[in-house]
Amino acid sequence: MANQTDLQPAPSKSDRSNLIPFSSRLRDGRALALDVWTIFSAANLPADCINLGQGYMNFAPPKWITDAAEEALNTVAPNHYSHPRGRIRLREALKVFYSPQLNRDLDVESEILVTSGANEGQYSVFTAFLENGDEVIMFEPFFDQYLPSVTFNGGRPVYVPLHPPKDTITHPTSNDWTIDVEELRRAVTPKTKMIIVNTPHNPVGKVFTKSELESIAAIAEEFNLLVMADEVYDCLVFDGKEHVRIANLPGMWDRTVTVGSAGKSFAATGWRIGWLIAPKSIIQPTLAASTRIVFCTNSPLQEAAASGLEQAKERNFFETQNEEYAERRAILCDAFDKLGLKYTLPEGSYFILLDISGVDFPLDYPFPESVLGRGRDFRACWFIANEIGVSSIPVSEFYCEEHANIGEAYGRFAFCKDTDTLRAAAERLTALKKYLK
Ligand SMILES: Cc1ncc(COP(=O)(O)O)c(C=O)c1O
Repeated sequence: MANQTDLQPAPSKSDRSNLIPFSSRLRDGRALALDVWTIFSAANLPADCINLGQGYMNFAPPKWITDAAEEALNTVAPNHYSHPRGRIRLREALKVFYSPQLNRDLDVESEILVTSGANEGQYSVFTAFLENGDEVIMFEPFFDQYLPSVTFNGGRPVYVPLHPPKDTITHPTSNDWTIDVEELRRAVTPKTKMIIVNTPHNPVGKVFTKSELESIAAIAEEFNLLVMADEVYDCLVFDGKEHVRIANLPGMWDRTVTVGSAGKSFAATGWRIGWLIAPKSIIQPTLAASTRIVFCTNSPLQEAAASGLEQAKERNFFETQNEEYAERRAILCDAFDKLGLKYTLPEGSYFILLDISGVDFPLDYPFPESVLGRGRDFRACWFIANEIGVSSIPVSEFYCEEHANIGEAYGRFAFCKDTDTLRAAAERLTALKKYLK
């Protein structure tokens, strides 16, 4: 990848600033690269730029959940270590919440593991299951953490692109991003250990259909693959679309780990509470890894997440939250419609991919070096952030180098922001009209 910073100059006798060589594993998986989050961070953009780039909310978790956090902080036990499996109250709440959805009576002792965000849970699965050189298939565009998490654990990412909507489709939805099952099959080698299926998908918003998941499941069964079902956006599915859990397909429970996140469910991304649900054969080794990595997850916020799950039903929380997100989505979509720009209407998650290939920026615009070395989408998103005052994330970042050109047509706009912010962004975006080809 371009912009790989070399932080490790050859040691010299007089220079004591880099005495100790760091591990070569940092060289893989873009771990040292100047990543898109740094390039497009608030610090590098105009002070009043509206941030629709990063995928975290600009609103607080519900008060009744932060009240539960406060209560936990004022109680002795939750200020101390939890069981590495997670606090029993949260595991019980997860059991009540997920058992009906997974059509089984989940065992809190062996089938549920609380983790430090979904991310650490996923990392622990890689640690627990990958041998050096094992291959992990991921669909592109992919959530960027997968890559270093796989390579740090000796794995090798193998990329299978989701195919973008055909040009003839005037109003594409995320369902128009498709998988080619034969292409997926061809990606499997004797080294393939695992496949990651992210539904609802970041950044496409795709909610995989039952038939797509059945095709993936058949390949997993045929080649004995572990399936990581990254379902952190499971509570954000729109337009009556059904969220199908691959773990529920025939035979798939035994080879699937389902990943969830309190960060996404309760607008609390900084709490770092996530969970894994899987059979004992997957949870047990993952627990061994997770215990060594973090020992346990922060305790008070596990209590608060438990309270969220316990009360969600009586408060109609997820239904209401879904409606609020649908309204947020509509504000941005209306803005893009008014500009006549094509975008992918997401059926899930909280991102919209805008086709920015028609944004006509001056070639001599003062782009920083970090942007110049990258795809056209980096320049388009930089230009929009600086001239229009709305930031987004260039989508080629979510592809391997070979396939980056597919992502270059898109900017990712996150709508996990309050409606006032989104309306202000929509208003600003009208000024983009004069820069369209
Ligand atoms: C697809 C996907 N998986 C996992 C995560 C990580 O979730 P957490 O914040 O709970 O670690 C994210 C966060 O953005 C994500 O988009």
